Amino acid sequence: MVQSKLPETQGSLFWEMRRLALEKNAIDMSVGMTEFECHPRLAELAAGFIKEGVSNYAPLEGIMSLRERISELTERLYGRSYSPKTEITICAGHVQAISTAISSVVNEGDEVIVFEPAYFTYAPAVRLNGGMPVFVPLKEPGFKVDWEDLRKMINSKTRLIILNSPHNPTGSVFGKEDLAQLQRLTNGTGIYIVSDEMFEHLVFDEQKHLSMAQFDSLAARSFVVSSPGPLFHINGWGLAWCLAPAPLMAEFRKIHEHQIYNVNTPFQQALARFLEQPALPEEITEFYQGKRNYFNRLLKGSPFSLQPTEGTYFQLVGYQQLSNEPDYQFALRLLNEAGVAATPLSVFMHKKNLQYLRFCFAKKNETLDEVARRLIAFAEKNRL
Ligand SMILES: Cc1ncc(COP(=O)(O)O)c(C=O)c1O
Repeated sequence: MVQSKLPETQGSLFWEMRRLALEKNAIDMSVGMTEFECHPRLAELAAGFIKEGVSNYAPLEGIMSLRERISELTERLYGRSYSPKTEITICAGHVQAISTAISSVVNEGDEVIVFEPAYFTYAPAVRLNGGMPVFVPLKEPGFKVDWEDLRKMINSKTRLIILNSPHNPTGSVFGKEDLAQLQRLTNGTGIYIVSDEMFEHLVFDEQKHLSMAQFDSLAARSFVVSSPGPLFHINGWGLAWCLAPAPLMAEFRKIHEHQIYNVNTPFQQALARFLEQPALPEEITEFYQGKRNYFNRLLKGSPFSLQPTEGTYFQLVGYQQLSNEPDYQFALRLLNEAGVAATPLSVFMHKKNLQYLRFCFAKKNETLDEVARRLIAFAEKNRL
């Protein structure tokens, strides 16, 4: 019998709704799958590199031209220059980048702050390294960090804080005051930060994404992780990058080499070439803000309650007017009776008594129309 290193992990629940959606032929709003195609030029570039025979290993840290483009992009957006040689590594997707960053600094017995709800891979990655996740709840309304709560949880064992803004699954976004508080609490400590900035370009309503890269004292202790997935509709390409000061990145690369070894070479080449054109994020921000507004308008006035989504392509939906069931049970009923799959919020929590579902609105308007029609019909039959 194998002795599991992750006996408590609920990871498979995350994919469970997708599996059931496929089995029942339901509309799948659960996992972050978009209905949009990769930019045709990017697709052509990737196909071209494969046809040309770009099939060998890339350098361990990723191809230089892609690291250079990412360095330029980061400098343009956040005013910090990361060295392509020593401070940027291309990774096999976001989850790998985050797990490797966690492995770089967490040792047996270290405490790691994880704000909950949290992306479901953070705590298992901490545990695999012998660390102990310390869960700090985000506070309603708005699922915001209570910095006083955080201050109380920090002690001499605290090695790392994992942050995620824009936040999956709640859609909340850090403001200036959040980053000021974070600086106050970490200055003069040996605490590191892993900052999951996957949705950096999906921040709405004239707010701007604040990156750890923008603040000297935070950048000095941070692994900043981002990905081209949401930006170009290529989540399945399995590409991401990590930025960190050279001494942190040196440790990161030691682990990366033994876990990953190589990241898809033709896709790296294609992305590097594609990023030579400087026009970027504004379009995608507006695009997803439009999707959020569209989906919100469709459900407005229904018994479903909508949490404000400041960023990401996720919408948290409450159903307190319809049922007292725990979210997993309600999600199963919605799937079976309305043919719509959504992710129960409790998948992102170690405690389970919530009443929210997460919907991914990265869908065509026809799909959003049909989902809203089904949800409203379901609500009419189920109002308490
Ligand atoms: C906050 C966050 N981190 C990480 C990931 C996983 O990214 P990847 O598929 O590139 O590993 C996701 C996917 O939706 C995410 O939302």
